[in-house]
Amino acid sequence: MEPILDWEARYHEASVPWEREGLNPAFQRWQRWLQSHSGTAIVPGCGRSPELCALAQLGWRVTGVDLSETAAGFQQQQLHSAGLTGHVTACNLFDWQPAQPADLVYEQTCLCALNPDHWVAYEAQLAQWLRPGGTLLALFMQTTDPDGPPFHCGIEQMQQLFDPSRWEWHGTALRSDHPLGVYELGFRLTRR
Ligand SMILES: C[S@@+](CC[C@H](N)C(=O)[O-])C[C@H]1O[C@@H](n2cnc3c(N)ncnc32)[C@H](O)[C@@H]1O
Repeated sequence: MEPILDWEARYHEASVPWEREGLNPAFQRWQRWLQSHSGTAIVPGCGRSPELCALAQLGWRVTGVDLSETAAGFQQQQLHSAGLTGHVTACNLFDWQPAQPADLVYEQTCLCALNPDHWVAYEAQLAQWLRPGGTLLALFMQTTDPDGPPFHCGIEQMQQLFDPSRWEWHGTALRSDHPLGVYELGFRLTRR
């Protein structure tokens, strides 16, 4: 599945308006949950965002996946300089599988960066990556722009994509303002 943008070029050109300073506010609000659980965590489309290292700092055994060699190299370096262990793979997430199903997937601004024609395949990947009972922490992008990326991830559409027969939805949404002037809604889901 072909990516919709040349993401590597965006990192080279420093054209990365999605990057925020510091952790996503929803991540901070999930911190207590993250501290009281443990295991393996996958961050698809991890880019250069700090949540991968933050998960490793909380004791999660992390794997980041990103198309961009630059972003993957950056994350590996960040883990290394902080004395943390973790893997970062530079590849297309549609061509990748973990050795073992994971306990957690942290989805932040990856779904909205994919061609919506690929969303059904993406949901299938996440469902396959997670063990039954595993957790998906997802930040669904809310934008009024009909074009993307980022593409609008309307909650009704997300509830069809992450079908309640396959995913248990918990609690209410956490809102995070996004540097692009839009916002994300964070949800915790369990893979049935
Ligand atoms: C909008 S950026 C978000 C990066 C990061 N999650 C953040 O919050 O800053 C989207 C990221 O997804 C990566 N990406 C896009 N399509 C991908 C694919 N098919 N496989 C792996 N990574 C992909 C891009 O390289 C980019 O780093």
